[in-house]
Amino acid sequence: MITIIGAGRVGASAAVFLALRNLDDIMLIDIVENLPQGHALDMGHALSILGIDAKIEGSNDFSAMKGSDLVIVTAGFPRKPGMTREELVAKNAGIVADIAEKIKKYAPDSIVMMTTNPLDAMAYLMYKRLGFPRERVIGFSGVLDSGRLRYYAAKVLGVSYSSIVPIVIGQHGQKMFPVPRLSTVGGTPLTEILSKEEIDKIVKETIEAGATVTRLRGFSSNYAPGAGLAIMAEAVKKDLKKVFLASVYLNGEYGIKDVTVSVPVVIGKNGIERIIELPLTDEEKKGFLASVEAIKANVAQIPKEFFE
Ligand code: 2OP
Repeated sequence: MITIIGAGRVGASAAVFLALRNLDDIMLIDIVENLPQGHALDMGHALSILGIDAKIEGSNDFSAMKGSDLVIVTAGFPRKPGMTREELVAKNAGIVADIAEKIKKYAPDSIVMMTTNPLDAMAYLMYKRLGFPRERVIGFSGVLDSGRLRYYAAKVLGVSYSSIVPIVIGQHGQKMFPVPRLSTVGGTPLTEILSKEEIDKIVKETIEAGATVTRLRGFSSNYAPGAGLAIMAEAVKKDLKKVFLASVYLNGEYGIKDVTVSVPVVIGKNGIERIIELPLTDEEKKGFLASVEAIKANVAQIPKEFFE
């Protein structure tokens, strides 16, 4: 069973994309009375129309996650127009700490995917509180950021999305670090086929994509995160050993310790099965390390009590 905690827009979108892939039964949990049940009923009707025999249920009781091998955490306050992800630290830390206890109690063997913002800091807190091996705590966001880089690059290049391998590492925030030199189309780095101006524009659009969606419609993204969570969940359930950009606790890789940050990883049935170290230039390393420092600053803002 796949449990989704948080039946807000991201949780509901993830449930829909997951159900369309029919990977496993889905349990949607939220503290708001009747909300997850209502979503599950509407989604069940949708699946009936589509003729997909996936099972989806809603509950306000955290014990309903019992038996889940995958728990996707989307609970927390989303950002409002004009707000940065980083401003959500104190608000969401308490929610994450609380949910960690529920997961330890009801789904102690599960793989946990985090989406709560500020993502890397919340994934760090979740990892520390759960005490699970690091391969079982996966921070979602690299798929979103790299998917956005791919979107903007594909538009300029006039090629299909899947023809581009995009690389965005570091913080899911203002300091995220797109790497155009290692992002390729037909084996060719974007830096070889696009002008500096075009690259700068794509990088800027990628970094600002989340804020742009939020500014345009008044609330933050949900379809793209939902889609990204579904393909990461699929990699776990089908043991795909597929490469994603995802936030993982580093323990010496890239010369970095004790921080959760987005880098390329291989995802399969055991969660994060391998961490890939990119061949960064000295200049790129500097940019990546600045991004890591920004995550550490977010972690430093988490009140100590939430780690205890
Ligand atoms: C985004 O990038 C809200 O962090 C989310 O759209």
